[in-house]
Amino acid sequence: MSVSDTPAQAEQRNHVIVFDTTMRDGEQSPGASMSLEEKLELAKILEEMRVDVIEAGFPIASNGDFEAVRQISEIVTESTVCGLARAGMADIDRCAEAVKRAKRGRIHTFISTSPVHMKWKLQMEPDEVLEMVTKSVAHARNLCGDVEWSAEDATRTERDFLLRCVEAAIKAGASTINLPDTVGYSYPSEYAEIFRDVIENVPGADKVIFSTHCHNDLGLAVANSLAGVQGGARQIECAVNGIGERAGNAALEEIVMALKVRGDKLPYDTVVETQHITRVSRYVSAITGFPVQFNKAIVGKNAFAHESGIHQDGMLKNAETYEIMKPEDVGQIESNLVMGKHSGRHAFREKLKALGYELGQNALNEAFQRFKDLADKKKHVFDDDIVALVDDALASGADRIQVRNLRVIAGTEGPQEAFITVTVEGEEKSGNATGDGPVDAVFNAIQTVFPHDAILRLFQVHAVTEGTDAQAQVSVRLEEDGRIATGQAADTDTLTASAKAYVNALNNLMARKEKSAPTARVASGF
Ligand code: KIV
Ligand code: ZN
Repeated sequence: MSVSDTPAQAEQRNHVIVFDTTMRDGEQSPGASMSLEEKLELAKILEEMRVDVIEAGFPIASNGDFEAVRQISEIVTESTVCGLARAGMADIDRCAEAVKRAKRGRIHTFISTSPVHMKWKLQMEPDEVLEMVTKSVAHARNLCGDVEWSAEDATRTERDFLLRCVEAAIKAGASTINLPDTVGYSYPSEYAEIFRDVIENVPGADKVIFSTHCHNDLGLAVANSLAGVQGGARQIECAVNGIGERAGNAALEEIVMALKVRGDKLPYDTVVETQHITRVSRYVSAITGFPVQFNKAIVGKNAFAHESGIHQDGMLKNAETYEIMKPEDVGQIESNLVMGKHSGRHAFREKLKALGYELGQNALNEAFQRFKDLADKKKHVFDDDIVALVDDALASGADRIQVRNLRVIAGTEGPQEAFITVTVEGEEKSGNATGDGPVDAVFNAIQTVFPHDAILRLFQVHAVTEGTDAQAQVSVRLEEDGRIATGQAADTDTLTASAKAYVNALNNLMARKEKSAPTARVASGF
């Protein structure tokens, strides 16, 4: 379908609407915060890959979320841009304000309907909740032509009550009804049956689109989402790399590829251009600092690797022996260009294109310089090295604090000591400190040149490629006053990468402080 189809047309065509919530539910993963610039870039990629709906944030949660939804509404023209709102009028007004400039804007409002949520979280009687459903949807509908309503914790909701709430939401003007498996509790057969029951028994159900929203607490989010489609849902809510609250959401890349590869079992298509999948996965991993597990379906480093002799032999004879989809279908392009210190700017740009990056002139120059520096240190520069250095350049390009120089004394004769020089908005500062190990010394030295109260919540190192000259990719997560920020850096020197990642996290934390109100998130009760 084209993104301008009405819900009824979409259903007729058996199209499944892909609703991406990486920037909303995905960002609710502890520590997965994204800056405004990163969200704008992600929105552009999602639109380019033809995701139908982009849930860009929860506008009342913070000024940062509001700005993200507002600015994404201004730049995205093909996809629908959606903001989340609780059932309160202030939430809905703020959301309407944020999406008002969108060519296709949507208000997504929700309220809990399960007994346990109504009693303990909302402290409301079922009849009060039912009344709120009507009021909130009607209010949203007055402000926006496209309203989605969600029954939070639908899978643990008493069925009769769920049917009454869905009927009220449809009557009040919702055009999409979402039945989330909020706590990842449902089973595929059970989830499909809920949709069948609701669609068969609620008056007006044939006029709206039903949506899945599955959490992965039991590892069933993708299976449940697909079962929801079998039960009649035509929209799937999902997130890149499956990020989201707790164990995460259904992974976008798995949903899209399962529908594409097994059209014989589930004859419903999406319009997502799958060759962008690897690129968006890498981007989300880089900006959140959440690494993709090696064996992750579709986007893991090993997803298309064949190690055992029997498998390799089969692959050489015919790729179909062990491959159900091609790496290039998801944008894993085997490029023939081997990069090294003699490679020029043109070859570098071609390589970046093959890896899914289109950089502006300044970013290209910066990345090329970093590539040259790396090629001086490392004989073979692999694709993963280039991905790491470009992500690093993108992450740190506009940083206010920059690491200029680092020297560390490490080894068996303690104490380990670090000497660092940084620039803070152009002004050079030097300091040194000892520590319990070289990384601790580096972080203490940063504290001397840029005193701060942030607490280290995560320090993670992984080797980008094999070999002792591999780049170390470091992720650092810092927390201050409830705000969390992640930083990343890559370098062949693990300690330099650590210093740069820490400083990058500090920069992101400062940016968050400036842009957001003190509360990073709001509780979802009233
Ligand atoms: O998991 C959930 O129920 C949600 C809703 C707000 C849609 O994220
Ligand atoms: Zn959710």
